[in-house]
This record gives sequence, structure tokens and C-alpha cells, in this order.
Amino acid sequence: MEEERIPERHTFFIGVGNQKGGVAKTTNTVHIATALGEMGYHCLILDCDSNAGATRHFNIPVDSFAGIFEILIGDEEPNDLVLQNGDGDIELPPNVFIIPGRRKLEKVDDALGKFQSKHELLRAPLEKLRGKYDYVFVDTGPQAPTPVIATYMAVDWFLLSVRPESFAIQGLKDALTDIADAQEHGNPTLQLLGVVMSGVDRRTTLSKRLTEYVEKLFLVDGSASAKFATIISHSTVIPRAQEVGKTVFQTEPDHRVTQQYRELALEIQTRLKLLTGVGPETVATSADSEGKVANG
Ligand SMILES: Nc1ncnc2c1ncn2[C@@H]1O[C@H](COP(=O)(O)OP(=O)(O)O)[C@@H](O)[C@H]1O
Ligand SMILES: [Mg+2]
Repeated sequence: MEEERIPERHTFFIGVGNQKGGVAKTTNTVHIATALGEMGYHCLILDCDSNAGATRHFNIPVDSFAGIFEILIGDEEPNDLVLQNGDGDIELPPNVFIIPGRRKLEKVDDALGKFQSKHELLRAPLEKLRGKYDYVFVDTGPQAPTPVIATYMAVDWFLLSVRPESFAIQGLKDALTDIADAQEHGNPTLQLLGVVMSGVDRRTTLSKRLTEYVEKLFLVDGSASAKFATIISHSTVIPRAQEVGKTVFQTEPDHRVTQQYRELALEIQTRLKLLTGVGPETVATSADSEGKVANG
């Protein structure tokens, strides 16, 4: 008997970076994935941060599940570790999946062989996820360099996070150097997907000035900027949602910030379509019966 063919998804592998902490990497990862999930796309978050911010953001007890640590040291297969809504007490937004992170990630070097290449650690695991999700987001953190290096060497795209503060902008410049370095040393196809500006208070001149600065810093072709036009406002709805282990899509579905994340998700899709030719309607043809929405 012929096997039933499950259509494969076109998977975009996107790292989320800026080595500085507190620049909204995790908040952006979680909310962009949730926005895309709301549109019907299947999004997997890999929590590659030893602080396990994304894992905590969904109220998932850190260290109760095997996760990225076990994948990096080669003990587990990524598809076996994906957590989904309804696993145990876990509540995840629609179409959002996660492989959790844990403290131990800081110690991953001790668990690796002396001559094992850090560059290769995530490549094979990501390959195993290809075709199963529309988007795989890898959230990185500042504390553990090895998972960050492995991420830079394995993903196709990098999404950079920045807040309107000079330390965060310096971090952006470092991240650009890292992208160039990774391109040169084994991941030539890595590309900057764009820069997300979050926590912006338009009433302050510093916010305005730094937003314009980032816009100009990332000008391509003299007109378009790699900075996304959609800016995420500063708002207490974000930390309040985090406190209860939810996203603003659950706590404040109609809030301005929630709407901004929806717009940002659309902008990301449009940009990926422009850069790769693969976009909403192409992806939608591989829709499953759960009713993926075409947006093109
Ligand atoms: N748009 C926003 N408005 C207000 N606070 C925000 C916003 N985005 C993020 N934050 C807060 O900033 C802090 C750092 O965010 P986080 O996503 O954890 O950064 P990172 O992952 O880069 O370390 C968190 O306390 C979070 O609640
Ligand atoms: Mg984080």
C-alpha cells in the first residue's frame, strides 16, 4: 500500500540575536512566533539561552524537560523533545511549539568532547526539523557562548533585537561583525533578516533620535532599511503578561503592542518572500487540515 504523503513545509531557520541582555530578544521571539501561529503557521522556538527566558515566558518549569542541552551534546533527537500545548500542564499559544532551555547550557562545553567542533553542533539537529515547521526561531542569550556560536553557524537568517539605548546599539554592531564572521567561516548563506526595534517610547527625544539612527545605520540601497518599519512600543502589558507566563496575545489581544506584533509578523513574511520567493501563498499550499490561512 502506498504511504500517505504529508506535504512538507518550507522551513525558515531564524536566529534571534544581539549579545547584549535585556534588549527584548526573548520577548520578540515569543511574540513573533505567537503572531505567526495565530495566522496558522507552525512555529518552533528553540530556547538556546541558559537563562531559559522563552521557556519561562510560557510558564514551563525550567529543568523539568530535556531540551537544547541534550540536543547539543547529541544525547537526544530534536523531534523527540518538542513540547506542545497540552503536554502535561503546558499551555502554549496556537501553533507554537518549543524545545526548552536550561541552566546547564552554560556547562555545555564540559560535556562536549575536547575536539568536537562547536560550529557543527546545531546543523544536523536543525536539518531534522526541516519540513515540519514553517518557522524555527532560535533564541540566544549572552551567558553561554557555545550555543550562540552553534546558532550562527546553523541558521539561514538572523533577526536582531534592539532597544533605543546606546548599549543595545553597540550590541547590534557586534552582532553584525559576528554575522560577517560566521559567513566567512562556514555559513556563507547566513543573512541578516532585519532589525526589530522594541520598547520605544515615541514621546522621548532619545527614543526618536536612536530609532532614526538605527534606521540610517541599516540603510540598504540608500532607501530601504533593514530595520523593520513596525516598531514595538514600550508598554507594561509586556512585563505583566510575562509575569503570568503568557503572551500579550492571550492577555491583551486588542492592545496596540499586540497589533504591532501582528504587523511585524506580516512584514517579516513579506521580506522573506521578497528575498527567497517563498511566501505566504506558497507556504499555504502545504497547509494541513488545521486550516492555514493564506495571506498573499
Ligand atoms: N515593548 C516592551 N515594553 C516594555 N518592556 C519590554 C518590552 N519588550 C521587552 N520588555 C522587557 O524588557 C526586559 C528584557 O526583555 P527580554 O525579552 O527578556 O530581553 P533579552 O531576551 O534580550 O534579554 C523584560 O523585562 C521585558 O519584560
Ligand atoms: Mg532572552
